[in-house]
Amino acid sequence: MTESTSQHTPFEPRLVAFLCHYCAFAAADMAGSMRLQYPPNVRNIRLPCTGKLDAGHILRAFEEGADGVMIAGCEEGSCHFLKGNLVAKSRVNWVKTLLAKVGLEPERLHMYNLSSAMGPRWAAIVQEHVERVRALGPSPARAPRPAKSEATK
Ligand code: FES
Repeated sequence: MTESTSQHTPFEPRLVAFLCHYCAFAAADMAGSMRLQYPPNVRNIRLPCTGKLDAGHILRAFEEGADGVMIAGCEEGSCHFLKGNLVAKSRVNWVKTLLAKVGLEPERLHMYNLSSAMGPRWAAIVQEHVERVRALGPSPARAPRPAKSEATK
């Protein structure tokens, strides 16, 4: 093994998750209360409803260095604002087409639906998306980080 290989750190994806307050955030909270193990790669952003999410929020997350983005809302038919999750689904699909046009894999963005009682499902979908994004590698939109030796100068 060469010296440079031994210093190589494996790629750990950075994810941003937009969660609706009523279902997905409660499920994530439950996963924490249950002390379920899941990758620490995700930063959660709570929204009143996924219907409040606009395309700019998603694109900004990628622009700021996320390798993957998760949207998690209530199950279809259970949105507390009636159709917010359906609006979000439509926006997510539109952003996926946009990502493909600019050369980013649309698989980096995924929407999930879950109830507030699905703590274990939250842990499972974080694991699933981390693995999906890990297989894709670092986002091409991510600005290269300075090498450690340069960062400490
Ligand atoms: Fe949960 Fe609308 S309140 S998606």
